[in-house]
Amino acid sequence: MSRLPIILDTDPGIDDAVALAAALFSPALDLQLITTVAGNVSVEKTTRNALQLLHFWQQDVPLAQGAATPLVRPLRDAACVHGESGMEGYNFVAHDRLAPDIPAFQAIYNCLLASETPVTLVTIGPLTNIALLLTHYPDCVTRIKRLVMMGGSAGRGNFTPNAEFNIAIDPEAAARVFQSGLEIIMCGLDVTNKAMLTPEYLAALPTLNRTGAMLHALFSHYRSGSLSTGLRMHDLCAIAWLVKPEMFTLKPCFVAVETQGEYTSGATVVDLEGRLNQPANAQVALEIDVPAFQQWVAQTLALAP
Ligand code: BDR
Ligand code: CA
Repeated sequence: MSRLPIILDTDPGIDDAVALAAALFSPALDLQLITTVAGNVSVEKTTRNALQLLHFWQQDVPLAQGAATPLVRPLRDAACVHGESGMEGYNFVAHDRLAPDIPAFQAIYNCLLASETPVTLVTIGPLTNIALLLTHYPDCVTRIKRLVMMGGSAGRGNFTPNAEFNIAIDPEAAARVFQSGLEIIMCGLDVTNKAMLTPEYLAALPTLNRTGAMLHALFSHYRSGSLSTGLRMHDLCAIAWLVKPEMFTLKPCFVAVETQGEYTSGATVVDLEGRLNQPANAQVALEIDVPAFQQWVAQTLALAP
């Protein structure tokens, strides 16, 4: 079976670290490029964290650093969830790899050009790099198989009452992406809030392998749930959909991003009942088979070193 070529745009981020593990070690996936973006913490920190993870796993996947700020707003980070470094809790070994001097959107375009077949974009942070890609290279759309994102919500938010973090941080970028014509799979809070790892599984992680021990150390500092009640694996859902889409129930919907609202900016307006009479621009994940997800996570992390 040929592996699915993907590009991962990320802001590590503790749940991003788990998603990166799954992207690297899922036999079905061919991770061709990692790009970083400002989100959970500054882009310098997310880049440093991604490079530390690659060094930890002795992986040399190309990496490019992306946008330092959202398109038009200042960055508001999520250090309160992931710690000041963005990946608090584990002492990574020092290394000397640096990101090359090429912006993420350019690296993504080069990767798309170099591929014989359309590539799947996976985004698990704010959509700034993808909006820049679409602006600089509108022809990229034909070279992208689809965009699978962790972001948004058909219900309530987790950053403001109505907005999910990745969309809330750069609503203008998200609006650009939802208007792009790309095929979009939206894994938002409707499924990611349910995608919990159980306390029992988490307790056994330190003895699974080096990766399990490292992730457990990070999880002690991750504030999307707790080790004793279970942790939400938001970003891992995007990778899970790639490998086992049958675990998810999707609905084609028109999705708009609120960019103006005083209290609602960054909200994804998901037209579940078709009230706006607009054609669907996204497949929105509304249900997830949680036991199957947990089984897949256990199988996948067991493949890591
Ligand atoms: C998203 O916000 C970030 O803090 C997580 O890494 C995830 O991408 C969840 O809302
Ligand atoms: Ca993230």
